[in-house]
Amino acid sequence: MTVRTPLIAGNWKMHKTVAEAEDFIQALLPRVSTADGVDVAICPPFTALAAMVDSTRGSRVQVFAQNMHQSASGAFTGEVSSAMLNELDVQGVVLGHSERREYFGETDRALALKVPAALEAGLAPILCVGETEAEREAGDTERKLRHQVQEGLAKLAPGQLAAVAIAYEPIWAIGTGKVAQPEQAQEAAAFIRALIAGRDGEQAQQARILYGGSVKPENARELLELPDVDGALVGGASLDAQDFAAIVGAVS
Ligand code: 13P
Repeated sequence: MTVRTPLIAGNWKMHKTVAEAEDFIQALLPRVSTADGVDVAICPPFTALAAMVDSTRGSRVQVFAQNMHQSASGAFTGEVSSAMLNELDVQGVVLGHSERREYFGETDRALALKVPAALEAGLAPILCVGETEAEREAGDTERKLRHQVQEGLAKLAPGQLAAVAIAYEPIWAIGTGKVAQPEQAQEAAAFIRALIAGRDGEQAQQARILYGGSVKPENARELLELPDVDGALVGGASLDAQDFAAIVGAVS
């Protein structure tokens, strides 16, 4: 059986100045220093990446960006390239978060280029997918997930699939306090794994599938115990060092 190391990643979204990020990381590091068998990442805004890489050096906490452009450089005002993230020693990048898709026009087509661009740059991608409430009610969850996963992974060679973590984030559970039922999270995660297996069975067993959407210290354990859920992408609760450390501690 494949042993997948769980990943707990905190997506700060547009929160924390550098000073606030420093306060957070000083509070977090001692709280997660003894956590075992779990990978921990924070995803600060671009402006705090360099400071967080410096402050986490030698610790178990990795630093991921929240987005990057697919091109190496160019006339793309407001965007950041993989080389810019590499220069800062950032270790990974969140791609295709539903907020980027909804508010900033992120497309599956761009993601099909961003995912391989991240891997080629040595950045660990977390590709986010998930359905709206209306899509779930219409019975369209699997169709939506299939489309997003297949498009996002389309340009990868089979041997690259396991290097991508996929975060299942039902949009109706993001920032709403409405967490998916464990059966819903397991069903979606297993479905995503089956989609990867459609390309390569062995890679599908190694790929990490995360759940995101109102993960809190109180509900983390039951989600993280699910057989196909290999970690969490945490929004609101990742802004508080004590809560985030408690979610890391829920990995048993
Ligand atoms: P919340 O944990 O605040 O619901 O956000 C989830 C999320 O979007 C993580 O990327």
